[in-house]
Amino acid sequence: MSRIKEVQKYVFRILKGIEDNSKRSKAVSHLSGVSLAAVMIAKKRGEDSELAAICGLLHDLYAYKNDSYEDHAHKGAEYARKILDELALTTKEETDIICSAIWHHDSKAQTDSPMDEILKDADVIHHSLADPTKDVKDHEKERYARLCEEFSLSNS
Ligand SMILES: [Fe+2]
Ligand SMILES: [Fe+2]
Repeated sequence: MSRIKEVQKYVFRILKGIEDNSKRSKAVSHLSGVSLAAVMIAKKRGEDSELAAICGLLHDLYAYKNDSYEDHAHKGAEYARKILDELALTTKEETDIICSAIWHHDSKAQTDSPMDEILKDADVIHHSLADPTKDVKDHEKERYARLCEEFSLSNS
Protein backbone atom coordinates (compact mmCIF):
# COMPACT_ATOMS: atom_id res chain seq x y z
CA MET A 1 0.00 0.00 0.00
CA SER A 2 1.29 3.49 -0.78
CA ARG A 3 2.31 5.76 2.07
CA ILE A 4 -0.52 8.16 1.25
CA LYS A 5 -3.06 5.31 1.40
CA GLU A 6 -1.63 4.14 4.74
CA VAL A 7 -2.04 7.63 6.22
CA GLN A 8 -5.49 7.97 4.65
CA LYS A 9 -6.56 4.66 6.22
CA TYR A 10 -5.34 5.82 9.63
CA VAL A 11 -7.01 9.24 9.31
CA PHE A 12 -10.35 7.82 8.18
CA ARG A 13 -10.29 5.33 11.06
CA ILE A 14 -9.95 8.25 13.51
CA LEU A 15 -12.70 10.19 11.72
CA LYS A 16 -15.06 7.21 12.02
CA GLY A 17 -15.10 8.00 15.75
CA ILE A 18 -16.89 11.32 15.10
CA GLU A 19 -20.52 10.61 15.90
CA ASP A 20 -22.11 13.64 14.23
CA ASN A 21 -22.62 12.70 10.54
CA SER A 22 -22.35 16.21 9.21
CA LYS A 23 -19.15 16.96 11.17
CA ARG A 24 -17.65 13.67 10.00
CA SER A 25 -18.48 14.36 6.33
CA LYS A 26 -17.07 17.87 6.62
CA ALA A 27 -13.84 16.47 8.06
CA VAL A 28 -13.48 13.84 5.30
CA SER A 29 -14.21 16.43 2.63
CA HIS A 30 -11.82 19.08 4.00
CA LEU A 31 -8.87 16.75 4.70
CA SER A 32 -9.25 15.05 1.30
CA GLY A 33 -9.78 18.36 -0.50
CA VAL A 34 -6.75 20.03 1.08
CA SER A 35 -4.66 16.95 0.35
CA LEU A 36 -5.57 17.07 -3.35
CA ALA A 37 -5.02 20.84 -3.56
CA ALA A 38 -1.63 20.43 -1.84
CA VAL A 39 -0.58 17.85 -4.46
CA MET A 40 -1.54 20.20 -7.28
CA ILE A 41 0.36 23.13 -5.76
CA ALA A 42 3.42 20.99 -4.97
CA LYS A 43 3.54 19.74 -8.56
CA LYS A 44 3.31 23.29 -9.89
CA ARG A 45 6.15 24.45 -7.58
CA GLY A 46 8.42 21.43 -8.04
CA GLU A 47 8.07 20.32 -4.41
CA ASP A 48 7.39 16.86 -2.96
CA SER A 49 3.76 16.05 -3.80
CA GLU A 50 3.64 12.89 -1.65
CA LEU A 51 4.59 14.81 1.50
CA ALA A 52 2.15 17.55 0.50
CA ALA A 53 -0.68 14.98 0.29
CA ILE A 54 0.18 13.69 3.77
CA CYS A 55 0.27 17.25 5.18
CA GLY A 56 -3.23 17.84 3.86
CA LEU A 57 -4.60 14.60 5.30
CA LEU A 58 -3.23 15.26 8.79
CA HIS A 59 -3.41 19.04 9.12
CA ASP A 60 -6.77 19.46 10.94
CA LEU A 61 -7.18 15.92 12.26
CA TYR A 62 -6.52 17.02 15.85
CA ALA A 63 -9.22 19.72 15.60
CA TYR A 64 -11.82 17.35 14.18
CA LYS A 65 -11.01 14.54 16.62
CA ASN A 66 -11.25 16.87 19.62
CA ASP A 67 -13.92 19.17 18.18
CA SER A 68 -11.72 22.15 19.11
CA TYR A 69 -9.78 24.74 17.10
CA GLU A 70 -8.06 26.18 20.16
CA ASP A 71 -4.35 26.37 19.20
CA HIS A 72 -5.13 23.53 16.78
CA ALA A 73 -2.15 24.12 14.48
CA HIS A 74 0.42 23.63 17.23
CA LYS A 75 -1.45 20.85 19.01
CA GLY A 76 -2.16 19.27 15.62
CA ALA A 77 1.55 19.27 14.73
CA GLU A 78 2.36 17.42 17.96
CA TYR A 79 -0.47 14.96 17.31
CA ALA A 80 0.72 14.41 13.71
CA ARG A 81 4.23 13.63 14.99
CA LYS A 82 2.81 10.97 17.31
CA ILE A 83 0.90 9.41 14.40
CA LEU A 84 3.87 9.53 12.03
CA ASP A 85 6.16 8.01 14.69
CA GLU A 86 3.61 5.24 15.22
CA LEU A 87 3.15 4.57 11.49
CA ALA A 88 6.94 4.62 10.89
CA LEU A 89 6.47 5.38 7.19
CA THR A 90 8.50 8.60 7.03
CA THR A 91 12.12 9.52 7.74
CA LYS A 92 12.88 11.93 10.59
CA GLU A 93 13.47 14.70 8.02
CA GLU A 94 10.14 14.02 6.28
CA THR A 95 8.29 13.96 9.60
CA ASP A 96 9.86 17.32 10.49
CA ILE A 97 8.76 18.84 7.14
CA ILE A 98 5.16 17.61 7.60
CA CYS A 99 4.95 18.71 11.23
CA SER A 100 6.40 22.13 10.43
CA ALA A 101 3.73 22.66 7.77
CA ILE A 102 0.97 21.71 10.22
CA TRP A 103 2.50 23.87 12.97
CA HIS A 104 2.51 26.96 10.69
CA HIS A 105 -0.68 26.37 8.70
CA ASP A 106 -2.83 28.80 10.65
CA SER A 107 -0.31 31.66 10.26
CA LYS A 108 -1.64 32.72 6.87
CA ALA A 109 -0.24 36.26 7.03
CA GLN A 110 3.41 35.17 7.28
CA THR A 111 5.64 33.35 4.81
CA ASP A 112 7.42 30.18 5.92
CA SER A 113 9.14 27.21 4.22
CA PRO A 114 8.01 25.99 0.77
CA MET A 115 6.01 23.05 2.22
CA ASP A 116 4.53 25.29 4.94
CA GLU A 117 3.32 27.62 2.19
CA ILE A 118 1.88 24.74 0.14
CA LEU A 119 -0.27 23.62 3.06
CA LYS A 120 -1.47 27.17 3.85
CA ASP A 121 -2.34 27.72 0.19
CA ALA A 122 -4.08 24.34 -0.12
CA ASP A 123 -6.17 25.19 2.97
CA VAL A 124 -7.15 28.52 1.39
CA ILE A 125 -8.00 26.81 -1.91
CA HIS A 126 -10.36 24.40 -0.19
CA HIS A 127 -11.93 27.08 2.01
CA SER A 128 -12.49 29.27 -1.05
CA LEU A 129 -13.41 26.75 -3.75
CA ALA A 130 -15.31 23.95 -1.99
CA ASP A 131 -18.29 26.28 -2.43
CA PRO A 132 -17.30 28.89 -5.04
CA THR A 133 -20.60 30.78 -4.57
CA LYS A 134 -19.48 31.91 -1.10
CA ASP A 135 -17.28 34.92 -0.40
CA VAL A 136 -13.62 34.30 0.34
CA LYS A 137 -12.84 34.89 4.03
CA ASP A 138 -11.33 38.32 4.65
CA HIS A 139 -8.11 37.04 6.21
CA GLU A 140 -7.59 34.70 3.22
CA LYS A 141 -8.30 37.20 0.43
CA GLU A 142 -4.70 38.27 -0.16
CA ARG A 143 -3.39 34.71 -0.33
CA TYR A 144 -6.33 33.65 -2.51
CA ALA A 145 -5.64 36.52 -4.93
CA ARG A 146 -2.00 35.40 -5.26
CA LEU A 147 -3.17 31.83 -5.95
CA CYS A 148 -5.59 33.03 -8.64
CA GLU A 149 -2.64 34.78 -10.27
CA GLU A 150 -0.37 31.73 -10.01
CA PHE A 151 -2.98 29.32 -11.36
CA SER A 152 -4.65 31.73 -13.82
CA LEU A 153 -8.06 31.52 -12.11
CA SER A 154 -10.65 34.23 -12.38
CA ASN A 155 -10.88 36.00 -9.02
CA SER A 156 -14.50 37.09 -9.07
FE1 LIG B 1 -6.58 24.35 10.43
FE1 LIG C 1 -7.85 23.23 7.26
